[in-house]
Amino acid sequence: MGNDALSILDKRTQTTYEIPINKGTIRAMDLRQIKTGPDDFGLMTYDPAFMNTASCQSAITFIDGDKGILRYRGYPIDQLAEKCTFLEVAYLVLFGELPTESQLKEWVNGITYHTMLHETTKHFLEGFRYDAHPMGMLVSTVAALSTVYPEARNVHDPQNRKLQIMRLIGKMPTIAAYTYRHSLGYPYIYPDNDLSYAENFMNMLWKMVEPKYQANPVLARALDILFILHADHEQNCSANAMRAVGSSFADPYLSTAAAAAALSGPLHGGANEEVLKMLDVIGSKDKVPAYIEKVKAGQFKLMGFGHRVYKNYDPRAKIIKWAATNVFEVTGKNPKLEIALELERIALEDEYFVKRKLYPNVDFYSGIIYQAMGFKPEIFTVLFAIPRTAGWLAQWQELLMDPEQKIARPRQIYIGYGERDFVPIEQRGVAAAVTA
Ligand SMILES: CC(C)(COP(=O)(O)OP(=O)(O)OC[C@H]1O[C@@H](n2cnc3c(N)ncnc32)[C@H](O)[C@@H]1OP(=O)(O)O)[C@@H](O)C(=O)NCCC(=O)NCCS
Repeated sequence: MGNDALSILDKRTQTTYEIPINKGTIRAMDLRQIKTGPDDFGLMTYDPAFMNTASCQSAITFIDGDKGILRYRGYPIDQLAEKCTFLEVAYLVLFGELPTESQLKEWVNGITYHTMLHETTKHFLEGFRYDAHPMGMLVSTVAALSTVYPEARNVHDPQNRKLQIMRLIGKMPTIAAYTYRHSLGYPYIYPDNDLSYAENFMNMLWKMVEPKYQANPVLARALDILFILHADHEQNCSANAMRAVGSSFADPYLSTAAAAAALSGPLHGGANEEVLKMLDVIGSKDKVPAYIEKVKAGQFKLMGFGHRVYKNYDPRAKIIKWAATNVFEVTGKNPKLEIALELERIALEDEYFVKRKLYPNVDFYSGIIYQAMGFKPEIFTVLFAIPRTAGWLAQWQELLMDPEQKIARPRQIYIGYGERDFVPIEQRGVAAAVTA
């Protein structure tokens, strides 16, 4: 073996092993040969929360967390945000290349054709309580689409996959808008296929009695940019859920519902809603220093700060901050911006945050823009799920086409009891109740 190898001396047996290193990685399965005897299972790695484990090889998204770089299929995120539409980026993320003019036309037509929901799905949505959280409605409705398109379970047919991908990307804004209108008690608005992806979403959200909805072009472009920034983010919690569920060959609707459920948590896509709540709790700029002290004392986390991968300014946060300027010119400034800017200013100078490399992430400013545009915080994570559907589906396709992938099934280190005899109920004492 050449120099690209790791020598491991097992002191238990005084045996040396040569483990190949490829792309800066050793294969965990290569450790299995390291045994103390024939009955030994072999050495495993222990990595709760995947802190240092690559679960796949991927050609979709590149992140350099230390340098603050994000690229889709090699293209820097700032160039895509400036020059593309979201549907162009979705095509890139899903199929690997930017579309030609004719490919884009066909793609946009395909997505537009699939924006309608089956009436039974609409009735399904009507069954939710008036105060149901939009994310709960979205997750359930996406899962319910699996019953409308049973052929989707044929996940090995590329043509069938493409059809379901177009349906999901087309229908996501429709479901999202319906969840929003439901929470307000407004009637549902059908898609308008004359409009762009973002404009049509705005139409389904905000059209009232006017015959034709006219989207403000600045706000529509800002929304499209936000969609581009959220399209994919490599192996995050929800992408991992998508891949884990997809690895059992569940259909794409059920896998996407699982990914959206993962997104809903406050440590993932739910963070922007939490940022707004936090800014409400802080209340005014002068209360920021006292709030920061409480964060440093460990009472709570500064929402919208910190990232598992970025140990530098999140490049998406920079673009969002820039997009916010355009939005605020139309909507007027969101008063929370002042508090957010002060939080950022103090945190970026404070040793606690500097030492831990905690910078604003994508969720820090997105909620403030969304609120200025007229969205309620409960819908923020839904706004994240719409574009991320493209990323989830790209991850799912890549998984299905990767010959190395199998059903995702981690190992564990069992730390429970050894074998013990059954205890009849009348003989069970306090100890059993305590460990239950
Ligand atoms: C995103 C997040 C879950 C990443 O977590 P992680 O990679 O597991 O990082 P850790 O929790 O190990 O954090 C490392 C240290 O920074 C601290 N820290 C991390 N995020 C923090 C935050 N937002 N506010 C205050 N302290 C934070 C941790 O307490 C820990 O401190 P310690 O070393 O003294 O124990 C975490 O930063 C977080 O909860 N952020 C707030 C939620 C958020 O904005 N999520 C959106 C992500 S896009």
